[in-house]
Amino acid sequence: MTSGLEDRFQTLHEIVRAARMNLAPGPWDYLVGGTETETTLRRNRLGIDSLAFRPRVLRDVSRIDTGTSLFKRRLRIPVMLAPIGSIESFTPGGGATAAKASAAFGVPQMLSSACNPGLEATAAAADNFRIFQLYVRGDEAWVDDHAERAIAHGYAAFCMTVDTAHYGPTVLGPYRDAGYVVGDLLHVPLPRSPWGF
Ligand SMILES: Cc1cc2nc3c(=O)[nH]c(=O)nc-3n(C[C@H](O)[C@H](O)[C@H](O)COP(=O)(O)O)c2cc1C
Repeated sequence: MTSGLEDRFQTLHEIVRAARMNLAPGPWDYLVGGTETETTLRRNRLGIDSLAFRPRVLRDVSRIDTGTSLFKRRLRIPVMLAPIGSIESFTPGGGATAAKASAAFGVPQMLSSACNPGLEATAAAADNFRIFQLYVRGDEAWVDDHAERAIAHGYAAFCMTVDTAHYGPTVLGPYRDAGYVVGDLLHVPLPRSPWGF
């Protein structure tokens, strides 16, 4: 890839820092935060940290292939852009910007059904490998309508999501007000929650 990003960023941490400086506190909290005690976030972090690369030296790396395939389509690396609701709060182009990035890099985009500019405009933005994440809500006609539109606009597959009926409370606001740096919650012992546990 020749975007020049490699020159600006050497590590994921640098990308995170740049994103943070780019975002207002509200969208940042929404992006990095979990709900309630953020236990799941910490579990995920520990899960990822438990994986290690095994260094293999003195190998022929002149022809390495990090690609794979999904639904008979080629992926440059085995990674997919996850569906992010309200992605337009992070970049004005919303899903369309993610579509362009997915096309440029060569990985699929899974578009959230809860974001702008909508599945049609997103599909028009780039000729990428796209999958539609559909929240199962509303009646059958609502689901049919979304499914038909997604098929007509070249989405290669669906991810049907059944979510909780109510949003969980987020702790980010209260903790930030108490002086904690949001996103660093993963590294500090949690104080008593605002709900007393
Ligand atoms: C800000 C934000 C918005 C998200 N919006 C959606 C969404 O609209 N639909 C959905 O299915 N998942 C949504 N997710 C879940 C992510 O797509 C992803 O599955 C989750 O963050 C777990 O990713 P991980 O396995 O890489 O940790 C959202 C996650 C975040 C952080």
